[in-house]
Amino acid sequence: MFSRYKKSATATAKPVKARETPEPHAVSRAETAPKPSLRRQAAKPAVAPRPIEKERKRKERMADIKLDLHRSLLDNLNLAALDTATEADLRAEISSIAAEVLEEKGIVLNREDRATLTQELYDEVKGLGPLETLLKDDTVNDILVNGPHQIFVERDGKLEISDVTFKDEKHLLRIIDKIVSAVGRRVDESNPYVDARLADGSRFNAMVPPIAVDGSLVSIRKFKKDKLGIDDLVRFGAFSEEMAAYLEAAVATRLNIIVSGGTGSGKTTTLNALSSFIDNAERILTIEDTAELQLQQSHVGRMESRPPNVEGKGEVSPRDCLKNALRMRPDRIIVGETRGEEVIDMLQAMNTGHDGSMTTIHANNARDAISRLENMIAMAGIEMPLKAMRSQIASAVNLIVQASRLQDGSRRMISITEITGMEGDVISMQEIFRFQRTGLTPDNKIIGHYTGTGVRSNFTERFRLWGYDLPPDIYEPVTR
Ligand SMILES: Nc1ncnc2c1ncn2[C@@H]1O[C@H](COP(=O)(O)OP(=O)(O)OP(=O)(O)O)[C@@H](O)[C@H]1O
Ligand SMILES: [Mg+2]
Repeated sequence: MFSRYKKSATATAKPVKARETPEPHAVSRAETAPKPSLRRQAAKPAVAPRPIEKERKRKERMADIKLDLHRSLLDNLNLAALDTATEADLRAEISSIAAEVLEEKGIVLNREDRATLTQELYDEVKGLGPLETLLKDDTVNDILVNGPHQIFVERDGKLEISDVTFKDEKHLLRIIDKIVSAVGRRVDESNPYVDARLADGSRFNAMVPPIAVDGSLVSIRKFKKDKLGIDDLVRFGAFSEEMAAYLEAAVATRLNIIVSGGTGSGKTTTLNALSSFIDNAERILTIEDTAELQLQQSHVGRMESRPPNVEGKGEVSPRDCLKNALRMRPDRIIVGETRGEEVIDMLQAMNTGHDGSMTTIHANNARDAISRLENMIAMAGIEMPLKAMRSQIASAVNLIVQASRLQDGSRRMISITEITGMEGDVISMQEIFRFQRTGLTPDNKIIGHYTGTGVRSNFTERFRLWGYDLPPDIYEPVTR
């Protein structure tokens, strides 16, 4: 009954039944068949197991069966033919092999469990095992694995535990290995952490034992096919119409912009949305560790930096990409995240004719973003008096947009600040818009509104000259 995807009789290494030493978890016919033994019956708890306990047992049993079947599949499937197999063929094949093995072992499953099992086996063979369900779930933003038995997901800005688990650490490691080997990397004891990109574009990071103490740690930022646009962000309350109008003028008139924020605060999303205001005629070059940005313009050159390989060779750093980008006649340069020595070239680019450049930075507010820039310059080994360093920053950066994930999980642009120059040794700045918190609803949702600070933009004249005559009342404070 097995078709072309099954190994030929001679190629089949071992018939399913022929395994001499069953794994401790393997479900054998003897275990699953009704057991008339009195002793066995007496050992059962007097009280029926609670539904949760029952569900856990059911899952454990399914996991055991799956493991067993997975081995059978690997033994039986002609892996070389898998690449060319259509999805329907492969599903049918898996389903029939599963049915045969279940029958051989005398395991009876209801229709729903059988369908789940076939899907999970398909995911194991073709995809990323237990992670597949979460990757397919569009409501999930982040997937965070803390060892094989605990997977958290982020939905609507809130973390929750999922009911998906791996069988054991070996299973988890196998999936990690599948992911990293697909991009030509390796992860093991001597090389215990790795960044990669999944086939669907999701950002992937893994750290394995012994550095990860309780089992491998995996973090996945899911790739959104449809990145949130400006209109979506306004609709979600991430910023106001007035702020959107201001930002449009700022991007179109080529101000240099830094989006600052904490981890997962929406920096990349904001950067991507801001890029939509760039004129379609401009040549844009993007540099990222993992290509996440999705620019709508037609003239875009995308670069992805590369860490060194196992032998420590072949690194192409963000700085290398940036230096090269400057020779590629860009109108704008967008650096996904500035976190190291590339800061020097970024500031230089912003100061020398590549205005309109944008990047993101990990910082908690505008002042903090400036200190981070100063630190990065110092760490890059550039010896420069503080004042000179600051005046370079002040003349390079025009605007800092602060993104934040608030305690209720909502992501908001809590402040837009302009850099206005230097006063003595200090960089002067003025906040133009901010999010004003006013309270909490009974279910802990933050209440607040966006407001101007009453300070008019320093770039008003520039905006007007470029045809963006913003009404002065957008800067007025809003009282509610
Ligand atoms: N305003 C928003 N409303 C709802 N979801 C949002 C909003 N902004 C961002 N998100 C979602 O939040 C997640 C994190 O966003 P994003 O990748 O932009 O954050 P980040 O600050 O760049 O994170 P990291 O520090 O990890 O690079 C994404 O899944 C994104 O789709
Ligand atoms: Mg990001």
